[in-house]
Amino acid sequence: MERTWIYNAAKMVGQTATFKGWAKSVRVMGDKLAFIDLRDGSGVLQVVCYKPDLSPEVAAAVDSINTEYVLEIEGEVKTRGAKQVKEGEPTGMIELAAKRVVVLNTCEVPPFEIDKDTSGINEELRLKYRYLDLRSDRMHKNIWKRSAITRFVREHLYGEHFQEIETPILTKGTPEGAREFLVPSRVHPGKFYVLPQSPQQHKQLLMVAGTERYFQIARCFRDEDQRGDRQPEFTQVDLEMSFVERDDVMALVEGMLIDLVKKQSPEKRIQQVPFPRISYKEAMEKYGNDRPDIREDKNDPNLLAFCWVIDFPFFEKTEDGGWTFTHNPFSRATPEHREALMEKKDVGSILTSQYDIVLNGFEIGGGSIRNHEPEALKRVFEIMGFSDEDIQAQFGHMLEAFSFGAPPHGGIALGLDRIIALLQDEPNIREVIAFPKTGDARDPMMGAPSELPEKALREVHIKKA
Ligand code: AMO
Repeated sequence: MERTWIYNAAKMVGQTATFKGWAKSVRVMGDKLAFIDLRDGSGVLQVVCYKPDLSPEVAAAVDSINTEYVLEIEGEVKTRGAKQVKEGEPTGMIELAAKRVVVLNTCEVPPFEIDKDTSGINEELRLKYRYLDLRSDRMHKNIWKRSAITRFVREHLYGEHFQEIETPILTKGTPEGAREFLVPSRVHPGKFYVLPQSPQQHKQLLMVAGTERYFQIARCFRDEDQRGDRQPEFTQVDLEMSFVERDDVMALVEGMLIDLVKKQSPEKRIQQVPFPRISYKEAMEKYGNDRPDIREDKNDPNLLAFCWVIDFPFFEKTEDGGWTFTHNPFSRATPEHREALMEKKDVGSILTSQYDIVLNGFEIGGGSIRNHEPEALKRVFEIMGFSDEDIQAQFGHMLEAFSFGAPPHGGIALGLDRIIALLQDEPNIREVIAFPKTGDARDPMMGAPSELPEKALREVHIKKA
């Protein structure tokens, strides 16, 4: 018989149907009656097994069932008795009177209780058995919400004439402030690919290619020390647009986020629209950091306070007295500071076109209008002390590309994991990633990172043959 999803069950009172899923819980009431909460990917259905009505084989199958057994159950969908009704639950009015029960698979006793909130369970254990953790209600909802939000973002950007384009994962380093993961090349002894910290250079090259509006749900890799809101691999909603100014990018992102909250988290309220803009200087003076939490009521779990932080200094002093960029070397200086940049004077006061977006004290995105003129970009690297040869070796391809009619362009990348964690009221991004790493960048389930056999290391020329 055709399988019915549980989310359709409420419409099927009086009908016989077959459901498949897992035994979320089993309650035996004496020797005649057993209740099974059957869970599938769409919901939970209470199943009543009244043994006197069942064949001896089916009754024996019911007796053998333990939690998380995989079951096929055929029965009649009925309305519940008045005392049994659970208001507000999608299947709270109905139950399934079992006629036929087949055990499709058994299950070992799980290492922790899956039918409860697992947030208090040791995280190492949860991540070792992530496939069980993901069966729990809260995690199941988080991963569904992630899928729904990703879909929303895609559809929104398609609606704004963006193209979704994949950029390489095996690439060359790009300076964005974090350490990179390295991949040795087998066919080119002694050479390495680098995993992208972000698609920054490729998305800018797409603008030179005439793409005009690019986006990608992009996986990024950064070998940095972990925190609750950081993972070694994470996902950005990365986008870039040609012929835009700062306000165009900000308006597009603001519109998307407002609509996202309305459609995907309708219980939330945005404190202020349009999102306030705070200069870096004001943020530091008033809040002591550049990701201010401007919520009027920090105890209101449904309050979302977005703000933009703008007018960042372009450069900051390094420990050895030189200069480095604060955000992104590919950014353009603000129009008033273009001349200072070109003349490399008053470096500490040059402001960048960088804009960060902050939500409840978390930086959820950052972007800028880019430096599309090769000479101006060269100045940035000169200020940072790069020699002509260094600039040529590291960024020659960008400078060359920009010499072939690069349009003015700009963009932004939003931290998708952080946005979802905040909308789902989760304390860290691991709760909204299906298979995250631990706080110290390990995967206890797969056992990564791991040592490799000598032969594998010789093949990629890490060990001498
Ligand atoms: P940036 O480095 O600011 O900008 O990254 C953009 C956003 O990505 C999120 N993020 C992270 N999320 C989880 N784990 C991490 N380790 C992590 N690092 C960053 C943050 C951050 O705001 N190429 C530029 C964007 C641009 O200029 O268009 C970039 O990557 O929410």
